[in-house]
Amino acid sequence: MKICLLSFVTIFASLSFAETKKITVTGNDTMQFDLKSFEVKSGEKVELTFKNIGKIPKIAMGHNLVVLKKGISAIAFGQKALGAGANATNALPDSVKGDVIAATKLLGPAESETISFTAPEPGDYEYVCTFPGHFAMMRGVMNVK
Ligand code: CU
Repeated sequence: MKICLLSFVTIFASLSFAETKKITVTGNDTMQFDLKSFEVKSGEKVELTFKNIGKIPKIAMGHNLVVLKKGISAIAFGQKALGAGANATNALPDSVKGDVIAATKLLGPAESETISFTAPEPGDYEYVCTFPGHFAMMRGVMNVK
């Protein structure tokens, strides 16, 4: 009985470790994400850390990272967010959050935030920074296998 319980705990512990995928993305003062794409497996837990490695103040060069639902284009979403009133202090209006899987808040120089979510069904999912004017440059794709 003791052995059964031990092996159950061991299996459970190794499964939960195996299923967490850690990704780090940075954004800088030239409006670039360092990672334009990354890959995860459907169903695994994703811990995505986004760091603003720039020096320009947040009000002029803040960044966020917004992972969009399947089929939502980063460009179209960036325009929609602007139309909904996205600005330099609130880059992600509540009214557009229905298209979002997960998002960091707007980060200034040297700030970082880690967001967690479960990788959805296989497919390509675009991510974007919605600070006004950045969505044309700051885009990428999460490829779920
Ligand atoms: Cu940005």
